[in-house]
Amino acid sequence: MGEIKKVLVSYYSGTGGVKKAANVLSESLIERNCEVIMHSMDISKFNNYKDQYQNIVKEVDLIIVLYAVYAFGAPRPVDRWVENLPKTNNLPVVVISVSGGGEIWPNTSCRVATIRGIEKKGYEVLYEKMMVMPANMLCKVNDDMAMHLINSIPMNINKILDEVFSGKRHRSRFKISTRVLMPITNIEKNAVRNFSKDLVANDACTGCVWCALNCPMGNIELKDDKPIFKDDCIMCLRCYYGCPNKAIHNEKVKGLLFKEGFDLNAVEKRMEGKDLKPINECCKGLAWIGVKRYLLGRE
Ligand SMILES: Cc1cc2nc3c(=O)[nH]c(=O)nc-3n(C[C@H](O)[C@H](O)[C@H](O)COP(=O)(O)O)c2cc1C
Repeated sequence: MGEIKKVLVSYYSGTGGVKKAANVLSESLIERNCEVIMHSMDISKFNNYKDQYQNIVKEVDLIIVLYAVYAFGAPRPVDRWVENLPKTNNLPVVVISVSGGGEIWPNTSCRVATIRGIEKKGYEVLYEKMMVMPANMLCKVNDDMAMHLINSIPMNINKILDEVFSGKRHRSRFKISTRVLMPITNIEKNAVRNFSKDLVANDACTGCVWCALNCPMGNIELKDDKPIFKDDCIMCLRCYYGCPNKAIHNEKVKGLLFKEGFDLNAVEKRMEGKDLKPINECCKGLAWIGVKRYLLGRE
């Protein structure tokens, strides 16, 4: 790979974890004297951006793509991004997946289909890596663990960039057990389309339009100042956790979602100036084995 002067950072983030990592990545690239183009895969931004891609891929020396892991795979905005990539001749790409559980089976399948799609378009995927950010459903991360993960972003991003800039390749070996999981990811993608049909905005809803403006899929419309949820949901949970009035509820899948919400900026505020419990103490239990390994730099 030649000198890296201009980088396109394309990211998909539902509830802000990946966005934090993408922002740190952008700052680190600027510190390395690179020009950076940041691009969110949200549909509102994507539609305006799509046509410009033809030129962008001719201008940049590297593309870094980051995305949240959903059901051991990539969310649909990432599939759409791959589908819309113009063909090129060996433009280098780095793929960073961001999960709540870390690089453990079954998460190990989460980059396979995306990398294959990118390579089919003529790009050269040089480097792939898993980062970890707090899980936004199922297993609640305690504040100490969340802060360890947030604090570790710069170190992990710089480690990746040091290796990429020094020309190191990092590709995972494809395991057959991974192939078995890919249909499950596809089933999930279709099954969650209707997740939003069970979302209800209660009387606390003021019709502020935040949800409709921020849905990454454009899946929310307003009728009589109340949100109408259509059938193209990806269950990113942005509207559920992000509603300024906490007015959006789902009565059917309560156990999966966090009643107290999910807001990484609020965690940072709560934990400001506090000493963090050691990693071994705050990552106890089987569910956190991948997170612990990641935080201790053992993968
Ligand atoms: C629908 C959905 C599916 C998820 N599936 C997985 C998964 O298979 N493995 C995992 O480790 N984390 C999973 N997660 C957790 C997210 O990957 C993790 O919290 C990530 O940091 C979210 O990034 P974001 O805050 O930018 O959306 C899932 C989250 C959602 C909303």
